[in-house]
Amino acid sequence: MHVPSAPSSPSPDSWWRTAAIYQLYVRSFADGNGDGIGDLAGARAQLPYLAGLGIDAIWFNPWYPSPMADAGYDISDYRSIDPVFGTLADADALIGEAHAHGIKIIIDVVPNHSSDRHRWFIEALAAGPGSAARDRFWFRPGRGTSGELPPNNWQSIFGGPAWTRVTEADGAPGEWYLHLFAPGQPDYNWGSADVRREFEDVLRFWFSRGVDGIRIDSAALLCKDAALPDVSGAEPPGPAHPYTDRDDVHSIYRAWRAVADEYDGRMLIGEVWLPDATRLARYVGPGELHTVFNFPYLNCPWDAAALRQVIDETLALADAPATWVLSNHDVDRVVSRYGRPDTAFSLDRRPYFHALPVDLALGTRRARAAALLTMALPGSVYVYQGEELGLWEVQDIPDELRQDPIWARTLGADPGRDGSRVPLPWSGTEPPFGFSPAGAAAAPWLPQPKEWRDLTVAAESAGYGSMLHLYRAALRLRRFDPEFSGTALTWRRSPAGVLAFDRGGEGGQGRPGAGQSWMDTAGPGSSVRCVANLSAAPVGLPPHAAVLLASGPLDGGLLPPDTTAWLRIE
Ligand code: NOJ
Ligand code: CA
Repeated sequence: MHVPSAPSSPSPDSWWRTAAIYQLYVRSFADGNGDGIGDLAGARAQLPYLAGLGIDAIWFNPWYPSPMADAGYDISDYRSIDPVFGTLADADALIGEAHAHGIKIIIDVVPNHSSDRHRWFIEALAAGPGSAARDRFWFRPGRGTSGELPPNNWQSIFGGPAWTRVTEADGAPGEWYLHLFAPGQPDYNWGSADVRREFEDVLRFWFSRGVDGIRIDSAALLCKDAALPDVSGAEPPGPAHPYTDRDDVHSIYRAWRAVADEYDGRMLIGEVWLPDATRLARYVGPGELHTVFNFPYLNCPWDAAALRQVIDETLALADAPATWVLSNHDVDRVVSRYGRPDTAFSLDRRPYFHALPVDLALGTRRARAAALLTMALPGSVYVYQGEELGLWEVQDIPDELRQDPIWARTLGADPGRDGSRVPLPWSGTEPPFGFSPAGAAAAPWLPQPKEWRDLTVAAESAGYGSMLHLYRAALRLRRFDPEFSGTALTWRRSPAGVLAFDRGGEGGQGRPGAGQSWMDTAGPGSSVRCVANLSAAPVGLPPHAAVLLASGPLDGGLLPPDTTAWLRIE
């Protein structure tokens, strides 16, 4: 089913301000050729599903040739497609078909690091110390009497030292190179003019093929202090930090914005994990990135006051449109997070969170309520594949099947991210649940829980009240109801544990009523009121003309705990 773009979008060129964007993790979405790994043929075949879901754009995780040291975030050729996923012709066809469905395409670009199989890195190894080829990366002699110690004390974000020593052409132990992630991901030196030129050219390569947006991986890490000083661990991100959020990174994004502006309607979104909203704001706005991911929202516990604060801080972020993100391929799935006694999340405490018990029924109920809260907020919204099915984090993957380098590099201390990357269930009653075609040669690359037979797209399409029905209905209302079109959100005074705000009124531009009670109906025109009950007791509902959508059954006119409703107020 083809659903046209929102008639109320501010202009076709700024579709990204309000878009619903589906994150498609290609190796786990749909397998077209039966090798157990998702691919572009599988994604193309499911474009009608995505159009019917009601999304405006797809963000593809990396699809380039890669040795897969980090599931494709180690790119050996930025201008092609990994044979496991398909060909460049498949990508061209996919972009064209998506556009015919009214769906934009965002791709992932990884500028912080390369692959140890990239031709530049191979050249650098061969060229030896002091060469121009090595200057595109961070090669340094080691410390210690014979260079046997790494050049500094930096640690890899995936565990272990951030340096690996190479063997020089003569067979002797040689220099070390920097990799903030796995050893297969050597960091680029952004002081090199070659690196700058190369990436601007890569952006043009994909924009010219019709790609509508670029998601920038690890966007705050690119620039390093060339003196490569030791870190104490106490430096906050910012100009004094040797590799996080340094000021010179902004000149890169100003140049990238100029490239994006050579084309119509293209956008840049940065993956920027920064606790300080003022520092984050520097990445967006005129002349720089169009948006950044909202990770404080994702990490926030299921708590009304904490969410209110994050929402307010997000909306105050420069004049960039907000993005709302509940999950992605790096974090635990939202159903599991909200089913734990501690509903917060942070990447560096995954082992702690995985040790907590999970109440899946409670987590699902809250995830439904969170979906409606999230989709009522002004800005763009990201849906990570499987979120619309209510999939949970698979925490019991057998150790020998785990693929995430985090698992190996922490010697099993951190289970890593495989549990959020398990292939999607499409149909049928047993694995591979239609992920691979009948008679496939290989099982899915990670095992699917047998309980997912109830969470397949087919099962949820048939069952009224499923998570999939909720997402479809919410995305549709969010797109077509004019109250959702503006940028204004008007909070209503509400009891502790209840979040209540209005969208719309006065042609979508907001209405008087800030500070008024959530039970109040006053104000000209109609609006949509979102009421989310995060408290432990049912609450009454304000007088309303209609319940547009609710995340769970209303109980005798009351809004039960962990439930959100969208009400038409007149
Ligand atoms: C962030 C990506 O989302 C993650 O999956 C990847 O491992 C790191 N950046 C390194 O590229
Ligand atoms: Ca495949």
